[in-house]
Amino acid sequence: MSDSANTPETAPLTPGDSIRRTRAKGEPRFPDGPKADPAGSHFERRIRSFQPRRSRVTAGQADALQRLWPKWGLDIDGRHTLDLPELFGNDNPVVLEIGFGMGEATAQMAAADPGTNILAVDVHTPGQGNLLNLADRNGLSNIRVGNGDAIILLREMLTPDSLDGLRVYFPDPWPKKRHHKRRLIQPDFLSLAATRIKPGGIVHCATDWEPYAEQMLEVLTAHPDFENTQADGGFAPRPDFRPLTRFEGQGLDKGHVVNDLLFRRVQHVDQPLAGA
Ligand SMILES: C[S@@+](CC[C@H](N)C(=O)[O-])C[C@H]1O[C@@H](n2cnc3c(N)ncnc32)[C@H](O)[C@@H]1O
Repeated sequence: MSDSANTPETAPLTPGDSIRRTRAKGEPRFPDGPKADPAGSHFERRIRSFQPRRSRVTAGQADALQRLWPKWGLDIDGRHTLDLPELFGNDNPVVLEIGFGMGEATAQMAAADPGTNILAVDVHTPGQGNLLNLADRNGLSNIRVGNGDAIILLREMLTPDSLDGLRVYFPDPWPKKRHHKRRLIQPDFLSLAATRIKPGGIVHCATDWEPYAEQMLEVLTAHPDFENTQADGGFAPRPDFRPLTRFEGQGLDKGHVVNDLLFRRVQHVDQPLAGA
């Protein structure tokens, strides 16, 4: 048998090619890239906010995953605590973005604000490759790309008060009633996130699904660890720093209304002891 028959993926790939299934059983998809289910979270009985997708990875994305993952990628394995200054190589503020999709908006925000580090997390492999490519091409050293479930990242790998903010743009709306439990923005999620965000840090959500926007407003307003930045207690005007995202564009094409929510993490002042 020829060498090329044994190593089908070593043939040069040109951008636009897609990766076809030619690996041996058990062989990792990207030996130096993101791991499949790094935390083994598939064994954890828990409702997930995302659906595993087997998506096509282009040659350009595959190349970025192989080349840049060791430098800028982070497998969310739930097995170690992150030292964020070490991860980014500086002490700049860190904002977590959950669900960056293809990452175009993330790259634009990183370019516009190089003094802020963005820890961008998703489970979507083509998007991870795309964002790494954008970061590389545009010299965006303030982005790290996380692979895995953001809940595990928050729960197991981030220390208290380590984040300066949280961005969740156009999370999966899970429109069917029986799927509402899969929506990310829920009281338990907010309680977990609140422990990781510094007092004063901003949670910024945006959605084009109005019933979800109402739910976000309701649970954020009711949560004791957050306060609305809007004096009227309602939705926020879209901030200039948030670019149009891919999902937002699709929603606008369908005539959807987009709502932004900006809530601040509250510092609780300890109540004096009764009788003190
Ligand atoms: C509807 S897309 C929006 C993508 C992008 N923000 C945009 O506006 O174009 C939601 C993304 O969130 C990701 N996601 C959902 N739950 C997640 C979780 N718990 N951890 C990491 N990523 C998650 C999905 O994989 C998906 O790519």
